[in-house]
Amino acid sequence: MVRELFNSIAKRYDLVNRLTTLGLDKRWRRKACEIALTYVDVKKPRILDVACGTGDMIMCMRKRLERRGIPAKFYGLDCSERMLEIAKKKVPFAELKVGNAEEILFPDGSFDLVSVAFGLRNFSDREKAIGEIHRVLKRRGILLILEFSRSESLLGKLTWFYTRSVVPIIGGILTGNREAYNHLWRSIETFPSPEELSMEFEKRGFKVLTMEWFFPRIAFVMVLEKV
Ligand SMILES: C[S@@+](CC[C@H](N)C(=O)[O-])C[C@H]1O[C@@H](n2cnc3c(N)ncnc32)[C@H](O)[C@@H]1O
Repeated sequence: MVRELFNSIAKRYDLVNRLTTLGLDKRWRRKACEIALTYVDVKKPRILDVACGTGDMIMCMRKRLERRGIPAKFYGLDCSERMLEIAKKKVPFAELKVGNAEEILFPDGSFDLVSVAFGLRNFSDREKAIGEIHRVLKRRGILLILEFSRSESLLGKLTWFYTRSVVPIIGGILTGNREAYNHLWRSIETFPSPEELSMEFEKRGFKVLTMEWFFPRIAFVMVLEKV
C-alpha cells in the first residue's frame, strides 16, 4: 500500500514538500545532516539512506561532506520505483536499490552512517527495520532519524492543525491523491513521541547521542550510535 502511495505521488513529491513546508523541509534536512555528520569521523564513510525517496538526504549529505573534503560512498534504498527514478537523476553518483527496510540487502556491518528521513513512520514493521539498520551498521556507527511527531506546545498544536487541514488540500490538488496526504497526518498521529522512540531504539542496541526539535515543532532529529 505504501509503495503504491509513493509511486502515485512521486512526480510532484518534491514540489508538494517545498510548498506545504514553505521550504522548511530543506532546512530540516540540512540541519539534521550537519548535526549527524559531526559524529562521523571516518576518512571514506559508507553511507546508506533508507527510504531515500527522491534523494534529497543524499544530496544534502554529499554537499556537506564535499565541503569538508571527505569522499563518501552513498547508497540509497526505497520500496518505490517511481521515487527512485527521480532520485537517479538527482543523485547519479549514488548506488540506488529498490528494496525493503525490513529486509536490507547488505551484509552485516556495511555502513558508517545510516539515515532515515521521514521514512520510519511508514514502515509496516518498525521493530524489524530497526533491527536491520542495527545489523548493517558498523560497531559505533551513526544513525540519523529525521521524523515528524506531535508536540504539545502551542506552536506544535498550530502546526498540527495546519498539517491536518491544509496540507491534504494542497497535496490533493497537486498530485490528484488527497488520500496520500491524509495518510501523512494519520501516520504522525499514531507515531511515538521522540522520548518513546528513543526507548524503542535503546532496547534494540542504540544509544541516543542527541535529539532536537526543529521549528515549528513538527519535525525533530535524533542521532544515535550503535553500541
Ligand atoms: C515521506 S518519503 C521520504 C523520502 C525521503 N527520505 C525524503 O526525505 O524526502 C517516505 C519514503 O519511504 C519509502 N518507504 C516506505 N516504506 C518503506 C519500506 N518498508 N522500505 C523502503 N522504503 C520505504 C517510500 O517509498 C517513500 O519514498
